[in-house]
Amino acid sequence: MPSPSETSFFSRRLSQIIQRFRQKVRRPFQTENQQMTEKDAQGSMKGDVRMAEAAGWVFGGVMLVALLVSRFAFKKSQGRESRSIDKQVVLQSDLPFPPMELRRIVGPTEDEAYDNPDGSFVFGDLGIGPLEAGEAYRRVFDFGCGCGRNARQLLLQQRPPEQYVGIDVGIGMIKWCQRNLSPPKSNFSFHHHDVWSQTYAPGNTRGNSVLPLTEFGRDFTLINAHSVFTHLYEHQTLFYLDQCRDLLAERGIFRTTWFFFNRDWFPVLNPGQHCVYVNSDDPTQAVYYDWSFFAETIEGLGFKIVGVGWHPTPGYQHEVLLAKGPEFPNLMPQLELSPNVLGFGGSAPPPLLQDREFIYA
Ligand SMILES: C[S@@+](CC[C@H](N)C(=O)[O-])C[C@H]1O[C@@H](n2cnc3c(N)ncnc32)[C@H](O)[C@@H]1O
Repeated sequence: MPSPSETSFFSRRLSQIIQRFRQKVRRPFQTENQQMTEKDAQGSMKGDVRMAEAAGWVFGGVMLVALLVSRFAFKKSQGRESRSIDKQVVLQSDLPFPPMELRRIVGPTEDEAYDNPDGSFVFGDLGIGPLEAGEAYRRVFDFGCGCGRNARQLLLQQRPPEQYVGIDVGIGMIKWCQRNLSPPKSNFSFHHHDVWSQTYAPGNTRGNSVLPLTEFGRDFTLINAHSVFTHLYEHQTLFYLDQCRDLLAERGIFRTTWFFFNRDWFPVLNPGQHCVYVNSDDPTQAVYYDWSFFAETIEGLGFKIVGVGWHPTPGYQHEVLLAKGPEFPNLMPQLELSPNVLGFGGSAPPPLLQDREFIYA
């Protein structure tokens, strides 16, 4: 709002301009008689001042409205910009990649393993059994999410999950994910799971070998455990398979990966032993599971096998998709194991060995 002194300044200036204009316009055409008297001139001058004052107020008002409109437009454009930045973060990504020291903890270090440039479904469309393509990605629980490798890829999907909950025993990785992979409005959250692990979490509470998962929610349509059961002791695996079954929706998929072997090649395993551990310093560096024990265990927990992905590298980790809902078909009865599963196919032991009972080493 212009101040009174500003208004009278505008008024005076406008009045002078009008006067000068009138003089210029009238002079060439006015006769002697038509010349203004002093009184007329004063009257005219007063009228000009009133006109100029009114014009001053109008001018001030217009300036004020213009100022308000421009401020409003600026604020609106700022809002639009920040909204589009959120969207970019979630959809196109200026998402940071985890630092190398964190990538080395979980394994793959190359950018491609963390990226999803075309926004596709990270594990295929998972349109299995009753599920529509992409439906499984609605609510994701990532057990052992590491430094957010799959979380980052999921955030970059053309259709990111409505909810994602990642947990891991590694506090440093979780803090990094919380700071970098939880863009506003994404509904991605990361939680520290205080279970002790010699390699991944030596600073966690020593006595904790398992902790319940039920506090993280239920009815997840996709539970992902990529390269996690490959690093758990047998008793941990049994506990977490059971927990994950409780967290899984009836129309949900449980994605797991495993190192498997055929126990027929290991006559020294007693009937209660089902795993082969590769490292005496940290046995969980890589844990191989007897296929028949795995098959019986998941069946006993009410899971069906609804998909498999055999790794091309023999003896490396294979993908097994599980589900518990009645609408899913069970592939287990007709499943043929790939020769890339240690001890099956071409690498199966000769019949003589298969018939052996347990023998002491
Ligand atoms: C090989 S990394 C895989 C990480 C991630 N899933 C990926 O694919 O990038 C194994 C992960 O399992 C985590 N882990 C190990 N024991 C765990 C447990 N009991 N509960 C949750 N996470 C665990 C480790 O901290 C580590 O991040």
